[in-house]
Amino acid sequence: MSDRDPMIPLEMRRSMARAAQRRMVEVVKAGQTEAAPAPLPLHKSVYTHADRFEAERQKLFLGEPIVAGLSGDIPNPGDMFLFDAAGPSIIVSRGKDGVARAFLNMCTHRGAKLIEETEPYSGHHARLTCPFHAWTFDPAGKLVGQPSKAAFAGCEVGARNLIELPCAEHLGLIFVRPGGGEPIDAATHLGEMAPVLAALELHRATPVKKGIMTADSNWKFALDTYGEGYHFATLHASTIGQTHYNDLAVLDRLGRNHRIGFPDKSIADLVGKAESDWPVTDYGGVHYLFPNTVIFFGAVTPGVFFTQVFRLFPDGVGKTRCQFAVYAPFGVESDEHLAMCEMAYDATATVVQTEDYRVASTGYANLMTAPDDFHVVLGANEAALQTVHHHIANTIGMPL
Ligand code: FES
Ligand SMILES: [Fe+2]
Repeated sequence: MSDRDPMIPLEMRRSMARAAQRRMVEVVKAGQTEAAPAPLPLHKSVYTHADRFEAERQKLFLGEPIVAGLSGDIPNPGDMFLFDAAGPSIIVSRGKDGVARAFLNMCTHRGAKLIEETEPYSGHHARLTCPFHAWTFDPAGKLVGQPSKAAFAGCEVGARNLIELPCAEHLGLIFVRPGGGEPIDAATHLGEMAPVLAALELHRATPVKKGIMTADSNWKFALDTYGEGYHFATLHASTIGQTHYNDLAVLDRLGRNHRIGFPDKSIADLVGKAESDWPVTDYGGVHYLFPNTVIFFGAVTPGVFFTQVFRLFPDGVGKTRCQFAVYAPFGVESDEHLAMCEMAYDATATVVQTEDYRVASTGYANLMTAPDDFHVVLGANEAALQTVHHHIANTIGMPL
């Protein structure tokens, strides 16, 4: 597929939309969601235990490739953003050669932060100058300036370049392995999700607004709110509960990743109609990228598309920080479009913070005082959550 032919991804999206519609018509007709074979009880310690949390921190947030941002966050050489939510403060930077790299935000003289901001900072720096003694680095992490250089004679200059972390840019996503280690094979990491993401053309997405949402809960407890439509009619009665069916979803398990389509109520118009009479629609869906990223792509109001990226991180066993960003999928088209994208950010952040993360926080407080043998239960209708918990448990090597 060529990036230069915009029709091909559009056709792919339409064909994915049609395939999803066929399944949505079936679930709407049957009044029955695509489901797991059985419910899955989860002992409360899956969310509350410090040892499990430490294993997740090490093996997932430091050890796995994590989405740090999108290509459009650093379109030009010298553009940089900070990624500090996984633990270490990391600079993601585009070099003069166009390559995206990740470095510890740590001066190699005496460890000062080169950029003293926090995520979601982004900016442009032809050179990075340390605020402590003015050592200077280029956007590829090379040490290019060292006041009183003679005092460091004998220290090999190359060894004082910034400390680089594994980083890979693929299909418009920038992955970083925050704890260092193996290079990232993004294609393998994405697996069967890759063609779906290719159709979304994330490399064209332009950032509009970013911020942070928080929950007083374990990160997985907050993440669970993204994977089922069973709560739409109650928790989101005045928003998505109005526009979408409650407790109906189509689910594609794509390795450790998955995709969910939540049918909106216009699917009712297709039931019983010949497929040749269905209108052509563009694609929308919820895409989960293991372990902590959810990308919503679709129309919030008809015809106006947004890409919303939720990246959930633990700030301790019982604290969640979600780095939330809204992008214009194919660039900002007009002032009006920009305003709509900003409104999409504000409206979504309000719902997530005051509804989803509210129940995550209050429920988590309950888990902390619940009886020792208490289990939450994920229904067969909460199939996506079941797959997420299985994959996390397998990856950290701690059975559920
Ligand atoms: S710590 Fe950066 S120049 Fe000294
Ligand atoms: Fe929700």
